[in-house]
Amino acid sequence: MAEDLEIFSGTKQEQYEHLIPQLKALLDGEPDLIANMANTAAALKEQFNWLWIGFYLVKNEELVLGPFQGPVACTRIKKGRGVCGTAWANKKTLLVDDVTKFPGHISCNSTSRSEIVIPIYKNEEVFAVFDADSTEIKEFDETDKKYLEEIVWMVKGE
Ligand code: SME
Repeated sequence: MAEDLEIFSGTKQEQYEHLIPQLKALLDGEPDLIANMANTAAALKEQFNWLWIGFYLVKNEELVLGPFQGPVACTRIKKGRGVCGTAWANKKTLLVDDVTKFPGHISCNSTSRSEIVIPIYKNEEVFAVFDADSTEIKEFDETDKKYLEEIVWMVKGE
């Protein structure tokens, strides 16, 4: 298939509604987690162009950097540290309107202002987290949470 993504300009909801079927088609039948994470990060970068979009994988009780789009980032994050390690420890999506107000936020890039982190599970265990960072305060809201959870939970191929 052609791998060109059709970029849609409209409301945030319309952009997600347009992106999801394309992403589904791209991931359909592909069991490789890293390949799916890579294309998911790339598709979200193309559509939304946030500062940083990517995944960390749980390895030996640490988060280790996985496929991403954006500037270079910290390689390892301990459980309970930063937004990523907290979302992992609490098994809950975290929306951070202003990263300067999040105690322990790990600043991988000085221009990052807001962030969303979504844990990804297999058999109720977190095996990865998705992270998106924006240069805008309050970039991510409940609409992003709803659609991004749907999107990033597709990477495991279920
Ligand atoms: N800000 C994250 C670290 C990862 S980078 O932003 C890509 C955190 O506090 O966990």
